[in-house]
Amino acid sequence: MAKKKTSLFECQHCGEQATKWLGKCPNCGSWDSFVELNQDQQEVLKQTSKVINTDTKAVPITQIKQDDVIRFSSNNDEFDLVLGGGIVPGSLTLIGGSPGVGKSTLLLKVAGSIAASGKKVLYVSGEESAGQIKLRANRLEANHDDVYLLSEIKLEEIQDELLRVNYEVVIIDSIQTIYSSNLTSAPGSVSQVREITFELMRKAKESNIAMFIIGHITKDGSIAGPRVLEHMVDTVLYFEGESSKELRMLRGFKNRFGSTSEIGIFEMTNEGLVSAKDITSKFFDKSKAQSGSALTIVMEGSRALILEVQALVTESTNPNPKRSATGFDGARLNMLLALLEKKIDLPLNHYDVFVNISGGIKIKESSADLAVVAAIISSFRDRPISKESVFIGEVSLTGEIKDVFSIDMRLKEAQAQGIQKAVIAQKPNMKLNLKCFPVDEVSKMIELF
Ligand SMILES: Nc1ncnc2c1ncn2[C@@H]1O[C@H](COP(=O)(O)OP(=O)(O)OP(=O)(O)O)[C@@H](O)[C@H]1O
Ligand SMILES: [Mg+2]
Repeated sequence: MAKKKTSLFECQHCGEQATKWLGKCPNCGSWDSFVELNQDQQEVLKQTSKVINTDTKAVPITQIKQDDVIRFSSNNDEFDLVLGGGIVPGSLTLIGGSPGVGKSTLLLKVAGSIAASGKKVLYVSGEESAGQIKLRANRLEANHDDVYLLSEIKLEEIQDELLRVNYEVVIIDSIQTIYSSNLTSAPGSVSQVREITFELMRKAKESNIAMFIIGHITKDGSIAGPRVLEHMVDTVLYFEGESSKELRMLRGFKNRFGSTSEIGIFEMTNEGLVSAKDITSKFFDKSKAQSGSALTIVMEGSRALILEVQALVTESTNPNPKRSATGFDGARLNMLLALLEKKIDLPLNHYDVFVNISGGIKIKESSADLAVVAAIISSFRDRPISKESVFIGEVSLTGEIKDVFSIDMRLKEAQAQGIQKAVIAQKPNMKLNLKCFPVDEVSKMIELF
């Protein structure tokens, strides 16, 4: 009797599999996203899920020789910093970012600088013609004999090219445009993206090629394709920034070879993306004191950045006043507003409150609480705060102001940028050329205005 064929269905958003069709994906919650995989697709899936290492015997850890991670520089300081100190041969890095943020520009620029050190780089584009890329390369000064362009969308052709020439670095722009003729599904679909990434990973590990893959992102900001993609690769980076502004941030999300705490900061200029020089002064404008604006200092990896917190407090006609935060945690903003109502009797329940962090940076630590409080009071009272002052401190639920980590580094940066006054939780031990005003309670903030 012939063996009964098993049906397999797969969610086209997250890659979840089921043996029967489901209307709603139990993993990602999308509706009508399950499609049936044919026998060929199921076969490919089986192959891709096989573990590469066929050594089945376990070995005591003490007898295993450690892999030494030898990196090489991309000759781009910011890029190296985010990767944890340089490029690791044989590694696979996924770079996501919204349309037009500058992913192709960044990687072409990096391709040029790597080639300048005598390494062969292949730039595969499934989105643009070689002529278009050449035009960009001219603008970026990335023209180099060792940068090879391939305008191709078929995986098998790319694999042939990789067999023909020994490249040390390969860039794929973008994973969603490449397809394999082994699979019948459309380019960009979950099974295509997974299969192609798996094949590229196999090639990268086998031939010790450092591979960079550009990925489109979805509306919610994650890389389009199955979640498993992020698990498969060694490093995941996100390229962020507002396309209306010149500053762009490259942020590590996962890194098997280094920390993810550093961010790379670039500036989009006519010559393409250049490492932003004198970064600290880019995120705030010292020119004029305005009400609703307060400066703070946050740590981004090993760097201290001065940021401007802006708040707008306006009378509301709505029974449920609006609260909106960009670059700052919305729940934390609500907590601070409740605290201001309770501790200093600001009638904020009748006011709309908007908070924004300038420069497109998302604050992930609580040291900016005090600056948010200062900006809100300043906007409410319509009293400008001098741009010579910074506010650094975490505000607790009881209204206490707490010290934050690396306060010395933050204050040194403030001093270097010509700041005269720092409002902080405790006086630091070090000697500084700026005046420190210790404030231990949020209720005492009102005395500063
Ligand atoms: N001549 C130019 N001078 C300055 N900046 C430019 C110039 N041409 C393009 N840009 C900038 O480059 C950005 C596009 O960059 P790029 O094509 O690298 O983005 P991308 O992230 O690869 O986009 P996509 O997702 O569409 O592929 C534009 O938004 C613009 O800011
Ligand atoms: Mg592009």
